[in-house]
Amino acid sequence: MKVPFFKTAITGDEEQYVHQVLHDGNSFADKNFISKCENWFAENNGLKNFFLTKSCTHSLELAALTLGIKTGDEVIMPSFGFVACANAIALRGATCLFVDIESTSMNIDAAKIEAAITPKTKAILTINYSGVACDYVAIKKIAHKHQLFIIEDNAHGTGAKQGENSLGSFGDISTFSFDHLKNISCGQGGGIAINNETLLENFFVHYEFGTNRRNFFSGKENRYEWKNLGSNFPLSELNAAMLYSQLENIAKINGRFVQLWNLYFEKLNTLQTQRKISLPELSIDSYHNGHCFFIKTKNEEERNTLILFLTAKEISAQFHYTPLHSSEFGLTAGRFYGNDEFTSTESKRLLRLPLYYNMTDTEINHVISKVLEFYEIDNR
Ligand SMILES: Cc1ncc(COP(=O)(O)O)c(C=O)c1O
Repeated sequence: MKVPFFKTAITGDEEQYVHQVLHDGNSFADKNFISKCENWFAENNGLKNFFLTKSCTHSLELAALTLGIKTGDEVIMPSFGFVACANAIALRGATCLFVDIESTSMNIDAAKIEAAITPKTKAILTINYSGVACDYVAIKKIAHKHQLFIIEDNAHGTGAKQGENSLGSFGDISTFSFDHLKNISCGQGGGIAINNETLLENFFVHYEFGTNRRNFFSGKENRYEWKNLGSNFPLSELNAAMLYSQLENIAKINGRFVQLWNLYFEKLNTLQTQRKISLPELSIDSYHNGHCFFIKTKNEEERNTLILFLTAKEISAQFHYTPLHSSEFGLTAGRFYGNDEFTSTESKRLLRLPLYYNMTDTEINHVISKVLEFYEIDNR
């Protein structure tokens, strides 16, 4: 049995909505599905100012532009993170200041942020790794005390909550991904929530080619012109049509992700009890979306041997981010602050197991049995 690492969820209505866009003469201009998606985030996640973009990468770059991040500024972020987070800062000529992560969640360690703040610090960039929230109570306190912005990268966390609050509601600006490897996807797409409304005016200029086009189209100004840096950030109506059908089915999609995640946890817990592997630790009020299930092996060598073992059984399991601070470009674009207690060691131990919406019970039980077999646990 061949088990891929991921397959994009297709729920059934995607084709009908895409067909509607192609066959309705005005739909590209009307942006009907774009509005439906943006309203969905307002109504379901409380994100009043949510806008679709071409990718989370674009959203991160847009966030850096909107916050006016520039040469000489510093942005604090985890080194265990996606390169798009660091690029967004480096593209503005600013410096990435990498801080250690918690070994439990793999999220930035809030307790290590404050010591890294300097007069140059402009923002804290957080990543909700695997759809699990960072410690925003602590992070918001620090940001408020030092008057820093929070950029919340919620690429993994669409539909997840921490307590009552949706992920994506914690940052001054929060970003989302709908690429083909996310629970909710439109092939390639992203979103941005401007939760700090004082940033909205600036945001619209950067979002729409660096112009005041939005005011022109809404009749507030009688012409539009080049005002600042910008680009063509908005998503296409065709992608939005696919995305909307997925948002309508989010309970079903995320529900299945969480069900599979729980099954992995339950059946592999015996390995954790025997101290052979570590499993993710969640806070009691984390309502995550099951985006990714990871285990942590004893060390990198064991992780790589397990990958080869599973590959030989036609199961695709994958490691994740290589720490940014020690990567070739990271050495010039930023620096690590403090002690690298967990970033390097924990990222080398981490292994993601296959997990996707239409993964069958037979497939997941097969993966579980092979992992148990690797550790010589009798699972008959
Ligand atoms: C944490 C994080 N941020 C940003 C991105 C970029 O997302 P996109 O592919 O939508 O540009 C990714 C991609 O997986 C990611 O993992």
